[in-house]
Amino acid sequence: MEHPAPAVTGEPQVVVVDDAAAAGRIVAATISDTVRRAPTCRLGLATGSTPLPAYRLLVAELRGTGAFARVQAFLLDEYVGLAATDPASYRATIRRELTDELGVPPASVHAPDPGSGRHADLDAACADYERLLGDGVDLQLLGIGRNGHLGFNEPGTPFDTTTHVVTLSDTTRADNARFFPTPEAVPTHAVTQGLGTIRRARHLLLAATGAAKADAVAAALEGPLDVSCPASALRLHPRVTVVLDRAAAGALS
Ligand code: GLP
Repeated sequence: MEHPAPAVTGEPQVVVVDDAAAAGRIVAATISDTVRRAPTCRLGLATGSTPLPAYRLLVAELRGTGAFARVQAFLLDEYVGLAATDPASYRATIRRELTDELGVPPASVHAPDPGSGRHADLDAACADYERLLGDGVDLQLLGIGRNGHLGFNEPGTPFDTTTHVVTLSDTTRADNARFFPTPEAVPTHAVTQGLGTIRRARHLLLAATGAAKADAVAAALEGPLDVSCPASALRLHPRVTVVLDRAAAGALS
């Protein structure tokens, strides 16, 4: 099927800092500013290791203040086949790392819910989550995979996709094996917001730290605008902030 070439609408604002701790400070400040300006905002959260320094700072500074009490949080993705109570599920992870600590009520933490009850039908789980996201979140925090994935949108994913089921690549399963008891325990499938869903956010905030992300960052920001690097879709969005440490910025020209 032919698609017209998408228009590039804005230049991402790229901020390069010394190290992961400094990147965490900028990410935490961007999130807390958004919540201070709009205490009932819709906040898109990411899991993985990259956001952890920012989450720890937010918890250290804002625990007990009630600043996040009226936020609605939305996760990017979730594994198929893990219960919400499974410690490796993204729902359990975000509650443990951030939202429970900040007093966000569990009912205000939203995620795809693939595999249970009515959502044994994965297409229904995707459609319900897409509907819940409506016209998008106010701020979406993103990490990036070594292969350029956003959420679990692997290379080859069209830029206009909505929430959908994915088969995880071998690279992604290997990268995420550290969160599971054995490499075989990493689920083979996940439900992720699509690239079109992610692009509905008002503001995208991508964080990447460490040399292992340098090639993916360079492909996203300077490579072809192409599905071979899902994160290149960021360049179609009018408001993107990219926070990098020196190592992750190492392959930029
Ligand atoms: C996972 C998540 C992504 C995340 C990526 C990078 O695959 N689904 O949302 O951005 O890993 O993770 P990390 O920050 O641990 O490198």
